[in-house]
Amino acid sequence: MLADSYGRVATDLRVSLTDRCNLRCSYCMPPEGLEWLPKDEVLTDDEVNRLIRIGVTMLGIEEIRFTGGEPLLRRGLTGIVAASTALRPRPQTALTTNGIGLARTAPALAEAGLDRVNVSLDTLRPDVFERLARRRRLPDVLEGMAGAAAAGLTPVKVNTVLMRDVNDAEAPDLLRYCLDHGYQLRFIEQMPLDAQHGWRRDTMVTADEILDRLGAVYRLDPADDHTRGSAPAELFYVDGGPETVGVIGSVTRPFCGACDRVRLTAEGEIRNCLFAREESDLRAPLRSGATDEEIAERWRAAVASKLPGHGINDPSFLQPSRPMSAIGG
Ligand code: GTP
Ligand code: 5AD
Ligand code: SF4
Repeated sequence: MLADSYGRVATDLRVSLTDRCNLRCSYCMPPEGLEWLPKDEVLTDDEVNRLIRIGVTMLGIEEIRFTGGEPLLRRGLTGIVAASTALRPRPQTALTTNGIGLARTAPALAEAGLDRVNVSLDTLRPDVFERLARRRRLPDVLEGMAGAAAAGLTPVKVNTVLMRDVNDAEAPDLLRYCLDHGYQLRFIEQMPLDAQHGWRRDTMVTADEILDRLGAVYRLDPADDHTRGSAPAELFYVDGGPETVGVIGSVTRPFCGACDRVRLTAEGEIRNCLFAREESDLRAPLRSGATDEEIAERWRAAVASKLPGHGINDPSFLQPSRPMSAIGG
């Protein structure tokens, strides 16, 4: 079991499979990209599979989410998914992706046992997409979402980070699009995790604002007063339901008290929080012959020292040096 000193237990493992990405979203990466990890510092497929096996069979991990950078850029992704879904007890598996290339790979991922996908989509306007993601790939993303739904990787959840005067006015249109296509949309408050440290509290679009904007067009009723549990998204029925829209208010409505997550970076560091100041390296023990139990013990210690929350709202908050693209959200 992966328990911390505040009574929380981590059962949800987020595995970053690469720090690379084929987009350059402004809330994440600089236009020129970042210095990518050298290949020998990235865990091999066998190393990732071993850590996932230890997490599932020895430490109580129940759900695995593959992230990046962009996880579809990882050559061995399908094999890693298949290795995870072959474990007993079988973990739930999901992928958080920008959707580029997903139309092509969705059938193989479904075949490997992947349960579902979350796709990032911040705009439906090609000009805004290009300004925001600095690439002209909107059609690929929309095809990716459709391909995932067709392959049964459902529910397809859609993540939208709203930014003032960039895409905030589009919120109702994005919701209409997702309702029409059967996708479950969640709007996300931007967190201070961009590589350029440009986040400002006063320009952040808050959960309250998002709900006001949507409320002008749709009737919203809380859907999960007592069932949110550890899920980041608060859900609302749209126009009486059954469809819902989610709001992930990490900053103004933090959910750290119920956090059940632990993260593994592409180079084998355990991060016990998105905003952790310290990490625990599992790659060195992996590569120097440590036993499963030794690795599990190091992992337990890494989670035990987890802080109670992200501290974004503390006056002394300092943004972590590791950017979003190297954590995986
Ligand atoms: P579901 O289980 O499908 O709801 O996944 P998810 O929402 O946990 O994962 P996803 O990768 O789609 O992330 C959506 C947004 O939630 C991103 O902005 C993440 O950074 C944010 N998020 C995910 N996990 C955490 C967390 O533990 N803490 C905080 N503060 N934000 C998180
Ligand atoms: N704040 C909040 N969410 C972010 N994401 C990326 N950067 C940020 C940020 N600074 C979201 C992406 C993706 C998910 C992994 O995290 O939209 O869907
Ligand atoms: Fe968990 Fe850290 Fe996210 Fe809070 S900010 S929910 S503690 S990962």
